[in-house]
Amino acid sequence: MATYLITGIAGFIGSALARAVLAQGDQVRGVDNLSTGKRDNLAEILHRIDFRQTDLLSLDAVRSACQGTDYVLHQAAIPSVPRSVADPLTSNSANLDATVNVLVAARDAKVKRVVYAASSSAYGETPTLPKHEAMPPDPISPYAVAKLASEYYMVSFYRCYRLETVCLRYFNIFGPRQDPTSPYSGVLAKFITQMLKGEHPTIFGDGRQSRDFTYVDNAVAANLLACKAPAADVAGRVFNVATGVRTDLNETFRILKKLIGYTGDVKYEAERAGDVKHSLADLSRAQKHLGYEPKVDFEEGLRRTVEWYKSGSVGRTSDFGSTISDAVVESKHEFKV
Ligand code: UD1
Repeated sequence: MATYLITGIAGFIGSALARAVLAQGDQVRGVDNLSTGKRDNLAEILHRIDFRQTDLLSLDAVRSACQGTDYVLHQAAIPSVPRSVADPLTSNSANLDATVNVLVAARDAKVKRVVYAASSSAYGETPTLPKHEAMPPDPISPYAVAKLASEYYMVSFYRCYRLETVCLRYFNIFGPRQDPTSPYSGVLAKFITQMLKGEHPTIFGDGRQSRDFTYVDNAVAANLLACKAPAADVAGRVFNVATGVRTDLNETFRILKKLIGYTGDVKYEAERAGDVKHSLADLSRAQKHLGYEPKVDFEEGLRRTVEWYKSGSVGRTSDFGSTISDAVVESKHEFKV
């Protein structure tokens, strides 16, 4: 039985990873400072994991968390491009300084492999589509710079210390438990919950910007594959994790309207600073070396996510944390690799 340390375990990706690791019969330790994650996201598995509410900026705490672990899945971050534009210092410490602490602690604890939640934002406005990993990055926002610098640290720790590291460039991951309540929340969590409440969502710009929106189960599968793939194929390397299909925001709104039965309209406001126009992944490297294939496409992912928010809102009062009904819904979509 292997032990996995998941950083950012109370986030929607971290908590989905925790469920998947438990489902394959392994042990989970998790750290989260609960700055953006929620304890509720772990409600029904909390008794089965070693959860530590702690900050990755404390090197001692990270060292202790790494002791005796085989794999580290480093998901902790303060996401959001516009939040990093508003507050680059906090973005830098949470998204870069914390990563260096994780790497130092993992190296010293002789962890087998570290898998890192990198970001498609590293590609920036490079005109080529789809984006492939050999392209020179061109980050725009402070968030993208911190995520890319963390990737370079991952690669450096493999080159300098032979700590096996794998970077997964996530393309706009979405799904159940993603927090919709912050002005910086991901667009799909926001749109779905706004439309379910009969409110009008806002599109920043003309709505023709497109994204390779990726359902969370695909990211989970990529992490588990990245732990097991031969080091010769994956260590010190970067891989796109996406679906290989892009959809623009106007079309996304139309699909959601149909799924939800929403009859209202969308508002348009000025484009956001630091925003990328188009994003689409080339998946050939991940397919070849990780054996990765997207299992859940965009529309199916949207259906599952809408269902989750719909049933989750029953019996809820002030937030979108987990309830018993959430756990029941989630179990219907149990993760399978
Ligand atoms: C970026 C990264 C993504 C990363 C995420 C972390 C790119 C291409 N993607 O996502 O990999 O996981 O940061 O935060 O860089 N929007 C609206 N209305 C809203 C909210 C957003 O129109 O209410 C628009 C945004 O302007 C943007 C698109 O929707 O054009 C997606 O925004 P968001 O969900 O915040 O993600 P990205 O910034 O694309």
